[in-house]
Amino acid sequence: MGGRDEKDKWIVRSQAGIGQTLEEVLALRISRRGMLKTMAIGGSLVLIGSSLSAVEEALAANPGLKFKVVKPTDPDFDDVVVPEGYYARTLIRWGEPLYADAPDFDVWLQTPEAQVKQFGYNCDFVGFLSLPYGSNNSNRGLLVVNHEYTNEELMFPKYDVENPTRNQVDVGIAAHGMSVVEVVRAPDGTWSYVRNSRYNRRVSGFSATRLSGPAADHPWMRTSTDPGADAILGTLNNCAGGKTPWGTVVSGEENFHQYFANLNGLDRNDARYAVHRRYGMPTAESERKWERFHSRFDISKEPNEGFRFGWCVEIDPYDPLRPVVKRTALGRFRHEGATFVIARDGRVVGYQGDDAQFEYVYKFVTNGKFNPRNREANMNLLDDGVLYVAKFNADGTGEWLPLVYGQGPLTPENGFRSQGDVLINTRLAADLVGATKMDRPEDVEVNPVNKKVYIALTNNTRRGASGQPGVDAANPRPNNAWGHIIELTERNDDHAATTFRWEIFILAGLPTQEHTYFVGFDKSKVSPIGAPDNVAFDNQGNLWIATDGAPRAIKFNDGLFAVPVSGSQRGNLQQFFSSVAGSEVCGPEFTPDNRTLFLAIQHPGEGSTFENPSSTWPDRQGLPRPSVITVQRFDSGVIGT
Ligand code: FEO
Ligand code: CA
Ligand code: CA
Repeated sequence: MGGRDEKDKWIVRSQAGIGQTLEEVLALRISRRGMLKTMAIGGSLVLIGSSLSAVEEALAANPGLKFKVVKPTDPDFDDVVVPEGYYARTLIRWGEPLYADAPDFDVWLQTPEAQVKQFGYNCDFVGFLSLPYGSNNSNRGLLVVNHEYTNEELMFPKYDVENPTRNQVDVGIAAHGMSVVEVVRAPDGTWSYVRNSRYNRRVSGFSATRLSGPAADHPWMRTSTDPGADAILGTLNNCAGGKTPWGTVVSGEENFHQYFANLNGLDRNDARYAVHRRYGMPTAESERKWERFHSRFDISKEPNEGFRFGWCVEIDPYDPLRPVVKRTALGRFRHEGATFVIARDGRVVGYQGDDAQFEYVYKFVTNGKFNPRNREANMNLLDDGVLYVAKFNADGTGEWLPLVYGQGPLTPENGFRSQGDVLINTRLAADLVGATKMDRPEDVEVNPVNKKVYIALTNNTRRGASGQPGVDAANPRPNNAWGHIIELTERNDDHAATTFRWEIFILAGLPTQEHTYFVGFDKSKVSPIGAPDNVAFDNQGNLWIATDGAPRAIKFNDGLFAVPVSGSQRGNLQQFFSSVAGSEVCGPEFTPDNRTLFLAIQHPGEGSTFENPSSTWPDRQGLPRPSVITVQRFDSGVIGT
């Protein structure tokens, strides 16, 4: 999909009976603030940017980004690229030992016992939490890293996808989850991880976790081997996440459905069938076939196990003994992640995306307030609050619609008998209240400088296809192979508000493609970008965007991009980093001083095999290894400046 020849096809599709033309849809968005004008010339669209008002310009003074742009690399190029004056180093790789008694990595001797003591596979979210707690230390801290999933065909020699062995299955389960690992920066700038730190911790698909919040006691949480629903085994498909104001990390269980099998073995009249179906549970065998060795993954044998996944998971990196808790109040869906901010009145707000085509953007607002003086007082804040889902109106306004049992359509007539029902079946609840179906919501994060919320929508090639929802103002492109970014402004910049305004910030793609848009900035000066996924902000409030899927969208490797959100450079997106063959870039995470950038290089070599890998990064010894890297300046300066 995508590519340089897409333009003509795309224009045809955009007019192919989906209600509105591109011009009409985009005109809704770009006339709003009077910043831009559209002109339809000969049936094609031309965007003319004008600068922000003088007042906004003055308010938005931004020293800008100063680095030498990185050129995109071809999808078979197997190395990382950083700007001139910068260097990248591998910090920790799949299989590195996290404990004194953990064995060194040996790809030929993998066991689950070893893997649960080693850094897991496919690193995604990276959170840096300073040590000691409460400090702003940029030289020592804890990295919390998600291990989203496994690529068995790259992990194991001669892997037979039809007949995985028990050992391969158990290593795979063990390689999922999360790692907490202490990291230190030496005086010469070199980062290393501390193998025997007392903070180091592995949470895997086997680890004991527990449930809390309104759905924790729901009958559907009980299984034959765990009738009390108090021994939840593991966390799976941990994708992105966020740090809370009290120094914990919340990790999103994303594509959890893929580990379950045999929905067809469940009676179609069983109420659970429709819910599992809405969440995409496989009707027959699962891809990894874990169900052959662990019946909890077989829906026909254990119909409720799947309800114990798809949650936000909270971990305290500062206390290795504190249980990992699935916070059901934040809803159940394919959580990309959750990112947290304190609202004006002290309540805590968590923004979330459900990363699937035509799914929703959510936020959770706690009932209680953050207590900055007593850390313990915040530890159960996420169990009590209101979950909202976003509705984007065509006029640039929007509403946060509450998903509260008994309100609106969320009543017994529609199958909801408790808040637990609403949360377990969050997607159906969101359908009923009329939320806006989005183009795969990934990271949703608040810019700490301008307080606006940025929503990465990675792509949706089914948008506008026959039988599927057509374009709307917030998802303006049919066959959206490139993704886009929305900028959302809460009413009065209050994150607990129930109304907002929004506008399109970027329509990704090759800048030469007519339908791309960089908030009015001169497109001849920006970098190509496809499939925005993880976002972050530097201390100046510049937006950093990591991509997942650029090879398909624009025929280049995934990368990291930076773009000012204010001032005359607003929209001037520049590529900062290019990743290796087959990989996506995750994190990104800065130290508080912005002098180190952590990036997770996930699934290098994906699409190839152990015997014939398309990537041998970073070791150049046969197989690729997902790893977290550091990016720094040779002069130790602030990244991006
Ligand atoms: Fe796991 Fe939505 O990326
Ligand atoms: Ca992601
Ligand atoms: Ca991703």
